[in-house]
Amino acid sequence: MFRTQKWTLFSTLLTLVALILAACGAPADTGGTTTSPSTAASPSAAAAPESPAAGASPEASASPASSGASAAGGKLEIFSWWTNGGEADGLNAMFDIYKQQHPGVEIVNATVAGGAGTNAKAVLQTRLAGGQPPDTWQLHAGRETLSYVQAGQLEPLTQFFKDQGFDQVMPKLLLDQITIEGEIYTVPVNIHRSNMMWYNPKVFQDNNLQPPKTLDEFFTVAEALKAKGITPLAVGGKDGFEASHLFESVLLATFGPEDYTNLWTGDATAWADERVATAINTMARMLSYANEDRSARSWSQAAQLVLEGKAGMTIMGDWAEGYFLTQKAKPNVDFGYAPSPGTDGTFMWLSDSFGLAKNAPDRDNGLAWLAVAGSKAGQDAFNPKKGSIPARTDADKSLYDEYLQSSIAAFAGNKLAPSAAHGAATTNAYQQAFHESLEVFSSDPTDTEGVLATLTEAVADLTR
Ligand code: GAL
Repeated sequence: MFRTQKWTLFSTLLTLVALILAACGAPADTGGTTTSPSTAASPSAAAAPESPAAGASPEASASPASSGASAAGGKLEIFSWWTNGGEADGLNAMFDIYKQQHPGVEIVNATVAGGAGTNAKAVLQTRLAGGQPPDTWQLHAGRETLSYVQAGQLEPLTQFFKDQGFDQVMPKLLLDQITIEGEIYTVPVNIHRSNMMWYNPKVFQDNNLQPPKTLDEFFTVAEALKAKGITPLAVGGKDGFEASHLFESVLLATFGPEDYTNLWTGDATAWADERVATAINTMARMLSYANEDRSARSWSQAAQLVLEGKAGMTIMGDWAEGYFLTQKAKPNVDFGYAPSPGTDGTFMWLSDSFGLAKNAPDRDNGLAWLAVAGSKAGQDAFNPKKGSIPARTDADKSLYDEYLQSSIAAFAGNKLAPSAAHGAATTNAYQQAFHESLEVFSSDPTDTEGVLATLTEAVADLTR
């Protein structure tokens, strides 16, 4: 009930925002990249409910997307939430390639700030529902893609994908995640790792500490840091996904990769397992070692506390390394890294990808963007800045720093588990509930029963 009322309020607000953006029209032609105003919608607005999916099967496109090499003029509107250091730099590096190839096309960089897309997705849904899609938008490979396919919002890319040869150079894991009922729907640009812990090497050295490998070790280290007056764990919350991000690593540590993965099949009995309550209690205990101002800090501001030595550790996806690099920090010198406690040997993955809007205003320009996003040159320009590894298997590894090279090896050698907070295992509707319930819990970590009840109820959203 609470969620429904809140959604009604926010959907009214977001409709207004979308109408204002639409009334403003596209930014003036600067001959380069233009950026639409970032929207300061509340993080808890998150994604809109799915469009009715009942029986909706993806329609085949009348003229299946094929090679998009013909972009000559007009605009290309790309929608994403990449506004932070690292993210924005990677995106700009791909824009540079696009501009070289298609100098006559004006790129409209439509961003809505807020990590994990908690704000962007709500604005996007309003635009899609109003028949005003951008040409292409950022989305996650996996079940999140299903959200858009079920709503009939994406054009199939199967022929285009083959024409570009992408099917020959991407791992089967990804191909399976972007194929729905026999059609490919997105072009993956990277693979991120969610279950990473970033720490301050100097703080650890000065206090004779080793990065914790298990949850027990985490609490021992946390106690030692606290005794020295250093915040043990930096946690954000301003972007509305930082708590759920931390929680998925705790679930992985508590369940192990196989049982963790079974939590996202849509079977509610998996959530009756007593280990869910154990994980919630562990999360509450971890939060007792975290900064109290977390609801006012974004994920990058939490990472900054670690960089400055004000906090010892943070648990965040490896876009944090992209952020650290923009601060001129060096891996294993200014920041250290290790799998989040209790998850060594598992790579919790997610993949950013781009799709083509059904009825895209500038369809050829959109296809030309997808050609860059899936290319070796595009991925090797984007990923070293973004803090992610390429989705392609033929990338030039020498361009990637020591952290990313270790991540390439881990992806190849570790067990794999899908991220829930970032759409690999979950629909948009589920993510909204997941993010919101964990943020509420982060602000009041005593309500363990409340978060358990909400998460159990949300299981129904995993399949719609
Ligand atoms: C994730 C996305 C990453 C990064 C992160 C923080 O959902 O996949 O690329 O942008 O959010 O914004």
